[in-house]
Amino acid sequence: MTVHATQLNKAADWLARSRRVAVLTGAGISAESGIPTFRDALTGLWERFEAADLATPQAFRADKALVWGWYEWRRMQVLRSQPNAGHRALVVLRQRVDDLRLITQNVDDLHERAGSPDVVHLHGSLLHPRCFACGHPHVLPDGIPDEPEGGRSIQPPRCERCGGYVRPGVVWFGESLPTLAWSAAERAVRECDLFLSIGTSGQVFPAAGLHQIAAQQGKPIIVINPGEMASVQSRELCLRGPAGEVLPALLARWA
Ligand code: APR
Repeated sequence: MTVHATQLNKAADWLARSRRVAVLTGAGISAESGIPTFRDALTGLWERFEAADLATPQAFRADKALVWGWYEWRRMQVLRSQPNAGHRALVVLRQRVDDLRLITQNVDDLHERAGSPDVVHLHGSLLHPRCFACGHPHVLPDGIPDEPEGGRSIQPPRCERCGGYVRPGVVWFGESLPTLAWSAAERAVRECDLFLSIGTSGQVFPAAGLHQIAAQQGKPIIVINPGEMASVQSRELCLRGPAGEVLPALLARWA
C-alpha cells in the first residue's frame, strides 16, 4: 500500500468529523475476494468477449446458453468467495458514524455476508433471477453451482408462471436502473456530509454520476483505488491502495 500517512490522517480526520456518510462501491472492493473486476479480461469460454458484449438483452436473445452459462459461472465464483477486510471495515465504519448509506454497483452479496444491512444494489443481483418475459422471480436451487473452470453454455431454466426463459437479475447495458434504488442512492449523496468512493473506475453512468453530484455540491470526497484516478477535485482525497488494506488502516487511525 503506497498511501502516505498524511493522506490517511487527513482522511481519518474527515471521517471523524462527518455524521452522514454515503459510500459507493464497485468491483474493486470484491477483487481481494477473488472476483475479477469488469475491466479484467474474461477467461475460458468467454475470453473472446468483452464483459459489456455479454451483459446486454441482445446478447441474451442471440445466445441464451452462452450468457446464462457466464452468469452461472460468476454466481459459482461469488458463492465460493468470502467478504474481505474491505467489506468488513464498512460494517465497523457504520457503527462509528450517525448514518451510513451503502450503495453498490456490485451484483454479489459480499457486503451483506460481511454484515452490512440495507445495501442499495444499483445493478441488481446475481442471486435474484427472474423471467425475461413476465418478470416473475425465479428460485434457484440451493448450493453452489458446480461449473467447469473454463465455463460452459447452459440453457437457462424456464419460468414456472409463463414458461419463458429465466434471465439473471442484473441490470444489463441499455437497461434502466431500478427506480427505488436510484432514488435512494441520489438522496443518500445529496444528504451526506462525506462521499466515499471505493473500487470503481467511474466509467459507467448513471452510477458514476453520483460522484459528480457530490462534487457539484462541494461535499468532501474520499476515493480509494489502487489505480490511476481521473482529475481530483479540490475537496477530494485519493488514497491509492487496495480497499482491503486502506479501509482498515483508516479505521485504525481514527481512535
Ligand atoms: N481495491 C480497490 N479498488 C480496486 C482494487 C482493490 N483491491 N482492485 C481494483 N480496483 C479498482 C480498479 O483500479 C478499477 O478502477 O476497481 C475499479 C474496478 O473498475 P471496473 O471493473 O470498471 O468496475 P466498476 O467501476 O464497478 O464497473 C461499473 O460496469 O460493467 C459494468 O455493471 C458493471 O457494475 C459494473 C459497472
